[in-house]
Order: sequence, then C-alpha cells, then structure tokens
Amino acid sequence: MPYNISIKKTEKSKVEALDFNNIPLGTTFTDHMFICDYNNGQWQNPRIEPLKAIPTHPAAMALHYGQAIFEGMKATVNANGTPMLFRADKNATRLNFSADRMGMPHVPEALFVAGLKQLVALDKAWIPPQDGSALYLRPFMYADEAFIGMRAATSYKFIIIASPAGPFFSKRINLWAEKKFVRAVDGGTGEAKAAGNYAAAIRPTELAKQKGYDQVLWLDAAEHEYIQEVGTMNIFFKIDGKFITPRRDGAILDGITRMSVMDVLKDKGFEVIERPITLSEIREASEKGTLEEAFGTGTAVGIAYIQSIGTDQGDIHVSDESPVGLEVNNTLNAIKTGQVEDKFNWMLSVE
Ligand code: COI
Repeated sequence: MPYNISIKKTEKSKVEALDFNNIPLGTTFTDHMFICDYNNGQWQNPRIEPLKAIPTHPAAMALHYGQAIFEGMKATVNANGTPMLFRADKNATRLNFSADRMGMPHVPEALFVAGLKQLVALDKAWIPPQDGSALYLRPFMYADEAFIGMRAATSYKFIIIASPAGPFFSKRINLWAEKKFVRAVDGGTGEAKAAGNYAAAIRPTELAKQKGYDQVLWLDAAEHEYIQEVGTMNIFFKIDGKFITPRRDGAILDGITRMSVMDVLKDKGFEVIERPITLSEIREASEKGTLEEAFGTGTAVGIAYIQSIGTDQGDIHVSDESPVGLEVNNTLNAIKTGQVEDKFNWMLSVE
C-alpha cells in the first residue's frame, strides 16, 4: 500500500556545521525525523518534520511499563552518490518480532521502508561518504498513551531519527565473563530489541569497566557457562579453522550483522556452526592453541575484535590479531558503498 507521507522541511539545514572527519557515534542528529501515530488500531498521519523534542505526558506508558523497542541500521552512499539502505527488510521483520514480544502493534514493512527512504532521501547530505562511515538510522516505537495500569497501551509513536557516524576503529576489547548478572533467558525478552534489555546491561557493564574490562561477556542464567553475547553484540569464535557462534536459543538477538557475517564467512569458504558454546571450551581451545580469533558483531560498531576474556578463574587469551574478522568487516563495508558487487542482494537504493 503506498503511503502518503507529508513533508515539512527545515528552514535551514545544520549540515554545514558537521565536521565529516570527526563524527562520534550518536552525538549529532540530522535535520528531520519521520513520525507516525498509532491510534484506534491504525497507523495514521505519517509525516516528516524538522527534528524536535516531542511533548510527552508524564503518564506515558513507555515511561512506566517499558513498552519501547528499537532498531539500528545504516544508510551509505555508493560512488555515484546514491543513498542505499542495508537489509532494511530484516530490520522491519525484527521490529515486528520485538513488537509481538512486547505486546505492541506491527509497523507494516511498506510503511517502515517508505519512512526510511523518504527520510534518507531528504537528509542525504548528512551521509558521510568515507569508507566505514554511515548514516546510523534509529527506527523506534513506544507507548505514548497516558494511563496508569498494567495492560498494552492503545496509542504509540513510531519514529525514525538519523545520526551520522564516522568509521569505528575499535581497539581490541577485553571482556569480563559475568556470572552474577544475566542479560537474557529463554522465554524472556533477550531476543527482542527492547529498550529495557539495554537498561539492565548498564550497571553490569559499569562494574566490568571498574575491573578494567571493556565489555561484558554474557552467559546463560542457569549454569553461567554457555556464552550468549558480548556487550550489545553477537559473538563469533574461530577454533581450528571453523567459526562457531552461539545458536539462537530464545535468549540471543537475531543480529542482522550476525546473519550477514555468517553469509560472508561461508562465501569465503569457512564452515560456520551455530551451536551452544561454553566458556570451558574457549579456555581449553586457548590453552591448546586452537583458538584463532573472536569478535563481536553489531550494527553500530560493525566488528569488534576480542583480545581476552577475564573470568573468576583467570584470564583467557583469545588472540592478538583478527585477520578474518578484519577481512569480513572490509567486505561488508565494500558491499555497503558499492565497491564490490552486492551478490547477496542486500542493498536497497533510495532514489
Ligand atoms: C546497534 O549496534 O545498532 C545497537 O543497537 C547497539 C546500540 C547500543 C548502539
């Protein structure tokens, strides 16, 4: 169904003030936002407006009961300056998966994509062209009904904002294998991209940082032994030439970078196995010398290379280099900027 998106443009773009050589992630926002209201069982009034604060009732249900979900995705430009979206259909599917889990309405994929395309087309001057840079897009939905009581809200907002992001050069990260706090359990909300999952990770991450580590390695709740995720990313290990990533067991986010990395690795001839993987197995592989590299994958960062894992039984050395991780990251960036053929058919042209 075609959507009639009304557009109110900003009087003066702020893009001239942007230093394209220095854009830390998540600090600068483009001129416009897409916004749509859900009332009486329907999405209504899709529009693009100048980015501004949104009046919020203090009883808005998202503030009290946490009906808030989001997506992370990126727009890039190819050599001809055409803006492109990476795997937007997958983000639409995941947003609606999260919406189901949190008792929220679906956003039709056509509306999701139409909003993204219009916003990116309007704010395309904000897309940093440098390799590894992108316009980070943040579609999100929250319950804005003013009500005190425990039930699904009846009114929501679906909004897309955009934030330019320079290339992310991650230093090798040292992880803390967390055994007191958990991120997710099968049947919980860990598979959904729900705002509260991130809130619950903040304190454990601060504590890991106080111990001198960069990120938390999340383990299962029952045995504190099965590896789930790292920080806000999925995780891959290379052991004896093969890649292993934890199987999605109800507690692991269906990462779009995760699924793309699996495809790129297979295309490069690697075997990729999705299965449960334990901390003890990683320790043994490190001791035997078969642990070759490990990395986290996520939209914001891309690929974050892992140096070591701290545990209550001493540190596990992972690797000092991640040659395959680096190659996969370069391949993904090249696909996103049209430098290599998009053989997976992932990119959606905006114009
Ligand atoms: C992303 O990688 O896009 C995320 O959603 C993580 C966020 C904390 C930046």
